[in-house]
Formats: sequence, structure tokens, C-alpha cells
Amino acid sequence: MTGGERAGRDGAAQPAPEEGRGTPSRRRVHMIVARSKNGVIGRGGRIPWRLRDDMRFFRETTMGHTVVMGRKTFESLGRPLPGRRNVVVTRDRGFRAEGVEVVHSPEEALALPRTPADGELFVIGGQQLYEALLPYADVIYITEVDAVVEGDAFFPALGDEWELTELRRHGADEHNEYPFTVYAARRR
Ligand SMILES: NC(=O)c1ccc[n+]([C@@H]2O[C@H](COP(=O)([O-])OP(=O)(O)OC[C@H]3O[C@@H](n4cnc5c(N)ncnc54)[C@H](OP(=O)(O)O)[C@@H]3O)[C@@H](O)[C@H]2O)c1
Repeated sequence: MTGGERAGRDGAAQPAPEEGRGTPSRRRVHMIVARSKNGVIGRGGRIPWRLRDDMRFFRETTMGHTVVMGRKTFESLGRPLPGRRNVVVTRDRGFRAEGVEVVHSPEEALALPRTPADGELFVIGGQQLYEALLPYADVIYITEVDAVVEGDAFFPALGDEWELTELRRHGADEHNEYPFTVYAARRR
């Protein structure tokens, strides 16, 4: 755990409320992802493992914040995530869904006017959104799932500019199909 991280309830990562790098108006950008050892994040529009305690980590880390997602990830969730400001990115100008704000480019999500209670900004996937917004990311919470799985959606490979700090490990059990390790990645 390094500067900017604080251990929260049940080990949820607590983002530091500071401005991101670059211009003062730009929001600090967090990403949160679970990927297999071979970089897979999805298969057939779904997440190809069942990890209850990682879902809990995701929920606690993003609760009270803004979550930005691609339209396909939103469809796979099937509803807005409760307790969070939900932003969906789509090219479809007619797209509407209850409980979500719609934007038409990934960058537009970063430029949204803040609301009093929208907290920090988390990009929660999928592949297209991670790829588009990785250049803007300040911190990435990565759950590395200790498995090689088949898939059709991937997280981009991170270069040497990212330094990983281990936050927690979890073994496999009846609720968690594979062991996993959670890292915070920050730019060096
Ligand atoms: N393991 C994890 O942590 C994790 C997290 C999230 C998702 N996933 C998985 O990732 C997979 C989905 O990823 P994906 O890459 O296929 O889809 P995605 O990133 O969730 O959504 C893609 C959609 O976003 C919109 N979009 C993308 N780029 C855009 C741009 N430049 N301007 C405007 N709209 C844009 C488009 O929507 P329209 O087609 O409507 O225009 C596009 O079809 C699923 O399998 C899901 O389960 C895994």
C-alpha cells in the first residue's frame, strides 16, 4: 500500500481525493479490472469466473463514486449499479436507460460536470473503454485472477511506466473459483 491508498472497510481501496495529472480541470481517473493471467476480462459478454470476494472489493471500492462503462458492459450488468453515478458510453444517439447518464465518447465521460456527490471517477470496462481511457488513467486496481482462461475481451498490456503494489491476496474457496491478488498500479 503506497501514498494515496488507505485501507477501508474490509480492505476496500479508498481513492485519494486529489486532482489528476495534467490540467487542473481534468479529473483523476481510476480504473478497476479483474483479469486472468493471460489478460482475459470477458467471454461472450460476461466475466468468465465467479469470485464473490472480488465482487465485494469492487463494490466497496466504487461505492459512492462515478462508474464509467461501455454500452456492452452496461448491457451485461443489466441495470445501473446502485449507490453510484452511472455513465454509459455509446455511439448511439438514441440510447436511453433509466438511472444512467449517456455520453458519446470516452473522453466526454472525463469531462462531465461534477455533481456534489459523484466522488471519484472509475472506469469499469470493458475492453474498448479500458483501451480508450488507459492514457488518462492515474491509478488502476487490478485483480489478477490466478488462472489461464479462454476469452474474447482483454485488458491491454501495461508498460514499464506502471508500478504495481500488492494490496491483498485471496485463496480459492467455495465462493471464489480461483485464487486472486489485488494490485494498485500507479505511474512511476
Ligand atoms: N473482468 C472485468 O473486470 C470486466 C469489467 C467490465 C467488462 N468486462 C467484460 O468485457 C466485455 C465487454 O467489453 P467490450 O470491449 O466488448 O465492450 P465495452 O467496452 O463494455 O462497450 C463497448 C461499447 O462502448 C461504446 N464505445 C466504445 N468506444 C466508443 C467511442 N470511442 N465512442 C462512443 N462509444 C464507444 C460502443 O457502444 P455502442 O455499440 O452502443 O455504440 C461499444 O460497442 C464483456 O465480456 C464484459 O463482461 C470485464
